[in-house]
Amino acid sequence: MSFTRRQILSGIAGIGVVGLAAGGARYWLARVAAPQTHDYELIAAPVDIELVAGHSTPAWGYGGQAPGVELRSRQGDWLRVRFINKLDEPTTIHWHGIRLPLEMDGVPYVSQLPVLPGEYFDYQFKTEDAGSFWYHPHLSSAEQLGRGLVGPLIVEEREPSGFQHERTLSLKTWHIDEEGAFTAFSVPREAAREGTRGRLSTINGVPAPTLELPAGQVVRLRVINLDNTVTYRLNMPGADVRIYALDGHPIEPRELGKEYWLGPGMRIDLALKVPEAGQELPLRNGPLRLATLRSIASAESAGNWPAALPRNPVPEPDLSKAETLSFKFEWAATLVNGPGRPSNYWQINGKAWDIQDKTCADRPIATLKKNGHYIFELRNMAQYLHPIHLHGMAFKVISSDRKKIIPYFTDTYLLGKNETARIALVADNPGVWMFHCHVIDHMETGLMAAIEVA
Ligand code: C2O
Ligand code: CU
Ligand code: CU
Repeated sequence: MSFTRRQILSGIAGIGVVGLAAGGARYWLARVAAPQTHDYELIAAPVDIELVAGHSTPAWGYGGQAPGVELRSRQGDWLRVRFINKLDEPTTIHWHGIRLPLEMDGVPYVSQLPVLPGEYFDYQFKTEDAGSFWYHPHLSSAEQLGRGLVGPLIVEEREPSGFQHERTLSLKTWHIDEEGAFTAFSVPREAAREGTRGRLSTINGVPAPTLELPAGQVVRLRVINLDNTVTYRLNMPGADVRIYALDGHPIEPRELGKEYWLGPGMRIDLALKVPEAGQELPLRNGPLRLATLRSIASAESAGNWPAALPRNPVPEPDLSKAETLSFKFEWAATLVNGPGRPSNYWQINGKAWDIQDKTCADRPIATLKKNGHYIFELRNMAQYLHPIHLHGMAFKVISSDRKKIIPYFTDTYLLGKNETARIALVADNPGVWMFHCHVIDHMETGLMAAIEVA
């Protein structure tokens, strides 16, 4: 594959033409309306932020903030981001959950060369699916994501969704001490277990914020877990709240229930019926309060529950003709601890990914036939949670030996302790796609593989 490190300026003028010519090409067949383009210039650079009152934290941000600025597109439109690297080290941007061509996927040495300090890269792709997504580097991930290079990417529905109000809630637990200084993003003994946890939980970069919401309205809460390690056990006691989408993909609305486990990389779109003015509701991680939602008087007439969101144009796998492949996620029996080499604590089907070795993707763990139908059996051989994520394609979760599954599409499945789950997909996107655990410590110590679609 030929790589692009930077594009020349004359190239960008042609992009609109490419966009229009390719409009409606692969997934989006329904609409004739001319696709628009959403243009951004996005700079990654150091930025000091105040997470602990009176102390500054030397974060890295996108667009001058950490978590990064919210990017927005609309289903069927094009998103075009000129990404400029003003860090002192190479980086890339990966668009988590977005189905796009491999050249835009942001994986170093697989999709593109790293964007060096002072260089830029033009990302451009059509946003085929509506929903809540996010973006982050795919290089030196423990530190780069840990320092704040994470941000929401919202793709609005093509037609009005029925929601008049919405908020994005980006969850991150920072690896900092009481004075705001960074602590280790990765500690070996933690990497070999649940992953290295931060200490300070925040929403949109604020610890335990109070969010004001309009009384009587139904508000869409786009909750995004862009943390390296933490699975948030989301609950909202006393709230009238329903789930509308999981990981960007709509579901038949249902009650949030007692608790929803949102692993690293995962998203949940909730609809909250805001109680009468003056009331407060907690949003919690298990027993811990992440935010206070305060109802404030609103002049609008009471809102109603919107209908289910329209499904995304993800191809439906045919289980009757699907081939089954099996993937075992396990603790590596032998630790590789050579000089200058990372320790490999984890492996998939007996193979550990080595983040120092640029050729790993040349040895895919599986090769799928283009447009073939597949069932993946995912087996967690360990007691730790693995949010298993696939690039390039969405998959349907069909069953688990641990809980009842209402089948749904996603890009990340939280594989529980010793759980075996089955997911299914149509391999419709050619390329070499990363398949990994989204606990960054696990991904960087072996739990990653490449899956080829050819
Ligand atoms: Cu958020 Cu390789 O992924
Ligand atoms: Cu991804
Ligand atoms: Cu894991």
